[in-house]
Amino acid sequence: MFTWKDSFSSKINEFDNQHKRLFDLGNHLYSLVRNQSNDDNYDEIMQTLQDLQEYTIYHFQSEEKLMEQFKYPKLLSHKIEHETFIRDLQGLLKKDVDDNQIKISLEIIQFIANWIENHILKSDSQYGEFLKSKGIE
Ligand SMILES: [Fe+2]
Repeated sequence: MFTWKDSFSSKINEFDNQHKRLFDLGNHLYSLVRNQSNDDNYDEIMQTLQDLQEYTIYHFQSEEKLMEQFKYPKLLSHKIEHETFIRDLQGLLKKDVDDNQIKISLEIIQFIANWIENHILKSDSQYGEFLKSKGIE
């Protein structure tokens, strides 16, 4: 589903590794819902969604900490994007996952695809250039 490519690199190793974890979580979720005739995967889907929520908060905090440390000029708009992602994710997870686990999981896979396309490939690559110019890799 989600395949890492070098073009996704932010040029900051720590964050590339964290982004790869996002890909793994997305792929795991997809593998759980791919075959809808599978036995009920409710517990594992719920665990993956919980992991995704915790990971998202941890990852955004890591990025913001380094951007703050180096006074990244676009920090505020970057933080607003992060807040929007967290709010959207929490909104999805507040729905009745119990009765709609496949549907909500597919929405979350779409959410991850949007995150990769509109944030990792754009905003994150911009801080990558900036932090690299400060000697971080
Ligand atoms: Fe980011």
